[in-house]
Amino acid sequence: MGKGGGCVSSKNKTSNSSNKYANTAKNSANVTSPTKNLKIFIVFYSMYGHVECLAKRIKKGIETVDGVEGVLYRAPETLSEDVLVKMQAAPKDDSIPEISSPSDLADADGFLFGFPTRFGCMAAQMKALFDSTGLLWKEQKLVGKPAGFFVSTGSQGGGQETTAWAAITQLAHHGMLFVPIGYTFGAGMFEMDSILGGSPYGAGVFAGDGSREATEAELALAEYQGKYMAGIVTKLVHG
Ligand SMILES: Cc1cc2nc3c(=O)[nH]c(=O)nc-3n(C[C@H](O)[C@H](O)[C@H](O)COP(=O)(O)O)c2cc1C
Repeated sequence: MGKGGGCVSSKNKTSNSSNKYANTAKNSANVTSPTKNLKIFIVFYSMYGHVECLAKRIKKGIETVDGVEGVLYRAPETLSEDVLVKMQAAPKDDSIPEISSPSDLADADGFLFGFPTRFGCMAAQMKALFDSTGLLWKEQKLVGKPAGFFVSTGSQGGGQETTAWAAITQLAHHGMLFVPIGYTFGAGMFEMDSILGGSPYGAGVFAGDGSREATEAELALAEYQGKYMAGIVTKLVHG
C-alpha cells in the first residue's frame, strides 16, 4: 500500500450518460417533489483517497434526486501526524469537515458510510466513530434510519464483502435499516472483462498498492448507490 491518487483524473473521465454503466431510471426509486430537503450524510474515512473518491461521486448521485442533499463528513483521524507520514497517507481535502460530535448524526435522514478495509473489517477510525455513539444508542436516535456502505480494499478477495457484512452489526444494534444495492445497477455488475470493485452490499474500489485509481465503472456504481439511496430515503420519509 502507499500514497494513492484515488480519483480518476479529469482527462480520463467519461460522461456517465455515454457508457454502459450509466444509471437507468428504472433502476432507481421513483421520486416525487418533496417539500423538505432531506439529508443523507456520507460519512467516511479514507487514508489514501480511494474511499473519498467514491464518497464524492456518491454525493453527486444523491443530488440527482430532487429534494435530497448529500452531506460529506469525515470520521475523525485517530493516528498521529508522525504515523500518518510513515504510512504515506494522502493529504486530506480540508473542504470536507470531520464529524464534530457523534450527536450530529441524529440530524441525518439516511446514511452512506464508507471505509477502507483493515484485515477484512472497517478501519479503526470509522469503528472509533461508531464506538462514540453510545448516547445516540441509549436515546434511540438512529432507530429506523436507512444506511448503506461503500468500501475500498487493496486486493480482489481482500474483503469487500466481509468488510460491509461485518459492519452490519453497527446498524443492527442501533436499529438502523441496512440498504444494500443488490443487483439493481444491472448489467454493469456482471462485468468480467475488467477488474471491478463493488458488490450487492455497495460500491467498492480496489486500491491495489495504493497507486490504482477508481475506474469509471467503480465510480458509476458509487454514483448509482447515492441515487438509489436518495430514492429509498425519499420513499421512507414521504411515502
Ligand atoms: C493495516 C492495514 C490492513 C489492511 N488490510 C487489508 C485487507 O485485509 N484486505 C485488503 O484488500 N486490503 C487491506 N489493506 C489495504 C487497504 O484496504 C487500502 O489501503 C485501502 O482500501 C485504500 O483506501 P483509501 O485510499 O480510502 O485509504 C490494509 C491496509 C492496512 C494499512
